[in-house]
Amino acid sequence: MSPYRGHPDAVRALVKADRVHRDLYISPEVFDLEQEHFFANTWNYVGHDSQIPKNGDYLTVDVAGRPLIVVRHTDGSVRVMMNRCAHKGSRLVSDCGNTGKFFRCPYHAWTFKTDGSLLAIPLKNGYEGTQLQECESAKGLTALKNVHVYRGFVFAKLNDVGPSFEDYFGDSLSSIDNMADRSPEGQLEIAGGCLRYMHNCNWKMFVENLNDTMHPMVAHESSAGTAKRMWADKPADTPKPMAIEQFVPFMSDYQFFEDMGVRVFDNGHSFSGVHFSIHSKYSAIPDYDAAMKSAYGEERTQQILGLARHNTVYYPSLTIKGAIQSIRVVRPIAVDRTLVESWTFRLKGAPDELLARTCMYNRLINSPFSVVGHDDLRAYRGIQEGLHASGNDWISLHRNYDESELRQKDLTTNGTSEVSMRNQYRAWARYMTLTM
Ligand code: FES
Ligand SMILES: [Fe+2]
Repeated sequence: MSPYRGHPDAVRALVKADRVHRDLYISPEVFDLEQEHFFANTWNYVGHDSQIPKNGDYLTVDVAGRPLIVVRHTDGSVRVMMNRCAHKGSRLVSDCGNTGKFFRCPYHAWTFKTDGSLLAIPLKNGYEGTQLQECESAKGLTALKNVHVYRGFVFAKLNDVGPSFEDYFGDSLSSIDNMADRSPEGQLEIAGGCLRYMHNCNWKMFVENLNDTMHPMVAHESSAGTAKRMWADKPADTPKPMAIEQFVPFMSDYQFFEDMGVRVFDNGHSFSGVHFSIHSKYSAIPDYDAAMKSAYGEERTQQILGLARHNTVYYPSLTIKGAIQSIRVVRPIAVDRTLVESWTFRLKGAPDELLARTCMYNRLINSPFSVVGHDDLRAYRGIQEGLHASGNDWISLHRNYDESELRQKDLTTNGTSEVSMRNQYRAWARYMTLTM
């Protein structure tokens, strides 16, 4: 008996205007349907074009449970295709590398151009008089139609349904703009590899936590609170070590997070830190300021650096911190297992101190060795276990709920509102059921 497969109304009923059903987080069937429908119907981040600078460079990634290749084609464009040989289905490549002008399957050596088209088959004469040319296999690799590169960020959508890239993300793209504009050359470059952090929880807990501003002063008391106490008796003008500067703002009070503000957009996107954020008070780096002013002038530099947003969620898979030039990418593995990838960026034309600050932040906050990230993971695990209790099937998202928000596609409000989560789940229900 399957309560959800083939029953879009039952799936929609899991999301109410001010609360969601626990099956969103604990039902393996819901997870399978998400892979099949939700992730295939939404625009997902697949990589950054600085990872594949030369023709033939490729990387591999799984989206919606499907293995994909992201490759720089011989004409310089970025292509995304299924990592599945057109012959008997072998994965063609793994990890990342350069494939030259074509992919060669490791099993029987069928070859494919980097746009996916079939190039050659060994001993071709064995196919005379067969139906191969009429069959799917002769077309080569399955290439995705919906691929978009925005300031280096590569997004793809598996199914040909739903809004275009621009309509899907709308004005939320201003956070990616701000991150790239922070480079004196207007360009970002992935620096080094990624920190992979396995979370034994449902992917949605991580994504909704990014703009959950009611938790830092509670969940991070042991880590950031300790850093704050260590620094408490220093005179106010003592220069803070970088780690203290990054840790302490997590312990800001409710009013701070309330005043920070949150903005939500149609399709589940949001950012907190409309007016300022935990990143606003980092010390200035004089060489960087000089490089920015010479590239943009005084006024534009102020505008760019004055925007210090907290987390922006590009629903569902990409979350960015423009002010610190790092991103976290969500890779769901199972209903209670999620891989979080954390990547750091170099701002082209900026001094190395900026990258050092980003790396420090990622190690302190986002990595498997982090102390702050462990606080969050502990909370997610607690939820993943707690939701198996009986007696209450619902998760409360009532904070500052106002039914007028249902009609607004772009809304800015107080920072401790749970509106960003409600907004995510409305989008979730819509994209889950688009193809069911
Ligand atoms: S499976 Fe790829 S060539 Fe046979
Ligand atoms: Fe947190």
